[in-house]
Amino acid sequence: MDKFAYHLLAIVSSCFLFHLEVVKAQTGAQNTYVIGGLGIRGELDLFNRWAPTFETYLTETVGQEFNVTFELKYLNFDTTYTAVENSEIDMIFTNPSVYACVEREYGATPIASMLNLRQGQELDRFYGTFFVRNNSAIYNLEDIKDNIVEAVSISGLGACQLQWDELVQRGLDFLSDPKQVIFAKNQKKIVKDVLAGKADIGMVRTDMIEGMHANGEIDKSELRYLENIQEEVHPGFPFPFSTHTAAPEWPIGAIPGMNRTIAKAIGLALYALTSDHYAAQAAKYSTWITPLSYLGLHKMHERLGWIDQNNKCMRSSALYDAIVCPEGQFKQSREQVAGACAEANLTCPEGMSPPYECLCRPCMK
Ligand SMILES: *[C@@H]1O[C@H](CO)[C@@H](O)[C@H](O)[C@H]1NC(C)=O
Ligand SMILES: *[C@@H]1O[C@H](CO)[C@@H](O)[C@H](O)[C@H]1NC(C)=O
Ligand SMILES: *[C@@H]1O[C@H](CO)[C@@H](O)[C@H](O)[C@H]1NC(C)=O
Ligand SMILES: *[C@@H]1O[C@H](CO)[C@@H](O)[C@H](O)[C@H]1NC(C)=O
Repeated sequence: MDKFAYHLLAIVSSCFLFHLEVVKAQTGAQNTYVIGGLGIRGELDLFNRWAPTFETYLTETVGQEFNVTFELKYLNFDTTYTAVENSEIDMIFTNPSVYACVEREYGATPIASMLNLRQGQELDRFYGTFFVRNNSAIYNLEDIKDNIVEAVSISGLGACQLQWDELVQRGLDFLSDPKQVIFAKNQKKIVKDVLAGKADIGMVRTDMIEGMHANGEIDKSELRYLENIQEEVHPGFPFPFSTHTAAPEWPIGAIPGMNRTIAKAIGLALYALTSDHYAAQAAKYSTWITPLSYLGLHKMHERLGWIDQNNKCMRSSALYDAIVCPEGQFKQSREQVAGACAEANLTCPEGMSPPYECLCRPCMK
């Protein structure tokens, strides 16, 4: 066989195989549906909180009706995108910012949004807060300049991007105005580090401080919110906050190709849950509601410059790659960024699993 004919055969057969796969996906009875879940506090925590809903409950309801089973798959901020690209998951349960990215890049559609339950209050959204020690001399967001700020991770929403967006709207910059930005990877650490004086200003989602106070982990009178705008922006919302942008609660969404009959049954099963059900209690939520709009987060991504020229969201597997400098500034080299905190005589807090990461003015004018 000559080379050309061989290539032609390879192309024809690969088209044929692809076609077969598509046909199989459309008509074959799929036995198992995989839900990718973002584990912001690790794999064990994800399974403890979410396997009761996404494996046990869905299998005993929708699974009984259609003779299928449901599996939860642990995802982090990096594997989310590869799992979608490699067709490893049929549905996704993820933070609303990452969800908006999966919607933008791959055409995911929401099936249902979670109705949260915090301190006995049903909440369909969360906001971001800025806070300091109560004896701090800091009172305004402008004081972010030349101070040390602690957030969760650059892909974090309630403890990073919502606050970053507020700063952008105030003409401030999250990465270049503070003398150091510490990423703690865990919101409770942020609260404890601000109390311990390791950071001047902390960023966490609404109700995090109240929840830790209720558990006896901290005394919230030792902390003070910066620019609490709850009364003007959302009267009746039960917790203080400092950001105009709200995040609709976490959705479960379908990846294109998901069976619509099964997706509909999942929505109905989730809407039927009540806060006293074992599944809701394991993850401390109230129920699920018809999908909320994630459009506000698409707009937030545009304000943050979180979308590149190829219409893709920043990837955060390497923090350096996710650094977005404000207009008129440029990103320093990898080496400069890696050495910048030592140069400024600022240490990054010690601590493992996962370790802290720090940035010291990675952008230059
Ligand atoms: C969707 O799933 C149902 C139940 O397993 C099955 O009967 C139906 O053929 C599937 N639809 C498609 C388009 O694959
Ligand atoms: C349910 O699906 C399994 C395969 O997962 C199959 O062996 C079994 O026959 C099915 N049962 C019914 C009642 O269709
Ligand atoms: C500030 O914190 C101290 C404890 O360190 C507490 O005694 C005091 O009441 C707090 N002040 C305010 C205004 O909450
Ligand atoms: C860092 O510390 C060294 C030694 O204490 C000092 O010489 C240097 O000026 C300091 N640099 C800055 C940016 O404060």
